[in-house]
Amino acid sequence: MILLVREDREYLREPGDTLETDLGVLEIPEDPAPGETLATHLGTEFTVRELRGPDFARHFQRSGAPMLPRDIGLVIGHTGVGAGDRVLDAGTGTGVLAAYLGRCGAEVLTYERDAEATVVARENMALAEVGDTVDVREGDVLEAIEERPMGTGGVETDTGNPDPRSDEPIAGSGDTGSAEERATAGGPLASGLGEPFDLLTLDTADAPAVIERAPELLVPGAFCAVYSPFVESAREVVETARGAGLAVDTYETIQRELDVDERGTRPTTAGVGHTGFLSICRFE
Ligand SMILES: C[S@@+](CC[C@H](N)C(=O)[O-])C[C@H]1O[C@@H](n2cnc3c(N)ncnc32)[C@H](O)[C@@H]1O
Repeated sequence: MILLVREDREYLREPGDTLETDLGVLEIPEDPAPGETLATHLGTEFTVRELRGPDFARHFQRSGAPMLPRDIGLVIGHTGVGAGDRVLDAGTGTGVLAAYLGRCGAEVLTYERDAEATVVARENMALAEVGDTVDVREGDVLEAIEERPMGTGGVETDTGNPDPRSDEPIAGSGDTGSAEERATAGGPLASGLGEPFDLLTLDTADAPAVIERAPELLVPGAFCAVYSPFVESAREVVETARGAGLAVDTYETIQRELDVDERGTRPTTAGVGHTGFLSICRFE
């Protein structure tokens, strides 16, 4: 998929599609290049753009309220998540956070208990081109944790690879195909909840119940990032994390955009200021 952009208009289309708007009919070539200018039959020009993280929230089909780029930036900055990390995420919702993490190069196992939202999230992962590294599973994350195979190495599928984070391709797994195909074939996602994670990301009301289990789920030194919409829920997160022996810092995620125009420069009077609280817990 690509974006066709002109001023404040953006259209998501497949290469080879036809875009029909009041600005004319545009036949999209099979291999449009980012930055290329394409004109409608009326001569109106659109620029081709590749879909990137900040475009996800606008163009993903929405289910749960997605995290905003500023909050996702804090998660990435405070946890240092990177390529090859194993991440457990819940709940998937629209999947904006999961898609960003996938674009960072992480292997993401994400749980969504709502069946319809799960289907939508899988489509969104395909749109973000992370369908092979973000495994969207339908189910309650707490139940999945309860039912997981116990102990490091007790994987759901025998990967035949002693090091789950090894760069070496696993025999027979291939490096392509959907998350489901890779899991079936014994790829990195196949170990599921049976191996510890480098990061937990929680955006659910029942996050404290998962935090209690964090020491069993994380490798030493790894993080758990929790998004809380209210002070009360943030406090419960902090108390639960401390009770579980995790170090925790909580931030209010306020960001003010500047309006810059001919009259002057000042913080914008429009838009969302406060979104929530972010707790960064570390398993020492
Ligand atoms: C606020 S949304 C998550 C948004 C997501 N972080 C994003 O960036 O798009 C919360 C989602 O969590 C799901 N959920 C809530 N509790 C859950 C649980 N225990 N297990 C799995 N999913 C859960 C809800 O159905 C909802 O879709």
